[in-house]
Amino acid sequence: MTKKLIVLFLVFLLLGGCSPRVIDEQQVDKNEKIVIKFSHVVSENTPKGLAAIRFADLVRARTGGYVEVQVFPDSMLYKDGEEFEALKSGAVQMLAPATSKLSTMFPEWQLFDLPFAFPDMTTAHTLMDGPLVQELFTDLQEQKFLGLAMWDSGFKQFTNNTRPLRKAEDFQGLHFRVMTSQVLKAQFSELGAQASAMPFNDVYQALKNGTVDAEENTISNIYTQNFYHSQKYLTLSNHGYLGYVVLTNADFWKSIPPEVAKILEDTLREVTIWERERAGEMDQKQLVALEREGKIEITHLSQMERLQLQKALNPVYELLSKEIGPDLVNRVKKIQEKGE
Ligand code: LMR
Repeated sequence: MTKKLIVLFLVFLLLGGCSPRVIDEQQVDKNEKIVIKFSHVVSENTPKGLAAIRFADLVRARTGGYVEVQVFPDSMLYKDGEEFEALKSGAVQMLAPATSKLSTMFPEWQLFDLPFAFPDMTTAHTLMDGPLVQELFTDLQEQKFLGLAMWDSGFKQFTNNTRPLRKAEDFQGLHFRVMTSQVLKAQFSELGAQASAMPFNDVYQALKNGTVDAEENTISNIYTQNFYHSQKYLTLSNHGYLGYVVLTNADFWKSIPPEVAKILEDTLREVTIWERERAGEMDQKQLVALEREGKIEITHLSQMERLQLQKALNPVYELLSKEIGPDLVNRVKKIQEKGE
């Protein structure tokens, strides 16, 4: 930051901080501002998509235009499998990948993929906001990543083209698309189904042309990516959690003046609360929209059916315990039991 800009920026902070009228955006030289490219793979009309835009808007207002967050949704810039390299090389500065996608580098993140790991969102948030995730954040530094926040997508549901899925046997012979995670592969092989990992932006086409005939995702992704156009059946199972790690490049973050980084971090904390509320609301609203459209047959599992499915998937914990780390798996089990 040049001296002139630091002075302007401090005046801006002193005279009221958040008010964009204090410093005119026109005064910020294009070449002097901090640009943060925030790349993600989902649609704008999702909790993550909207939160990224909200973060950008608030940051622009609160720094008088000195920090510009440019949001690139829908794998527009980088897709799954490319994003992490882009963050490392400095081609982008922020990402919010699903926890499952971190697991090729950091297998312990797969604990979020464990089937029926969380009985409700509050329990998931207890884990996300607690010491365990702080430990996982520390490990991210190995790759020069800095974990900034955790956002929700929601609970995953099953969709497929063959039959309504109610019990373990119904999954036999189906071919599911999964995110890159051994836990997710094991989950489907326990049920006698096949699972192929593929980037998010390829799923619509793969469902359409029959490369796979089933997938699991949250309502917002099923709805906004039009997966339901080529899937006949949706089972509301809430069998798995899908959440995001908001990530930056640690060296980049260190290069930001501390008073600016504080504004970004405070704003992100606020946006995180907002994002999780939106995720809950959108899940409900977009399910109603799917019901209204009537293109996909929706199956509601009874409590008993859900328990039977959970029981059928219990061996996954044992199978992947070594990969994730037995201690972490036990801690998740304790959180499940106590709601810690
Ligand atoms: C998926 O690949 O299915 C999801 O992780 C996409 C997302 O970011 O919600």
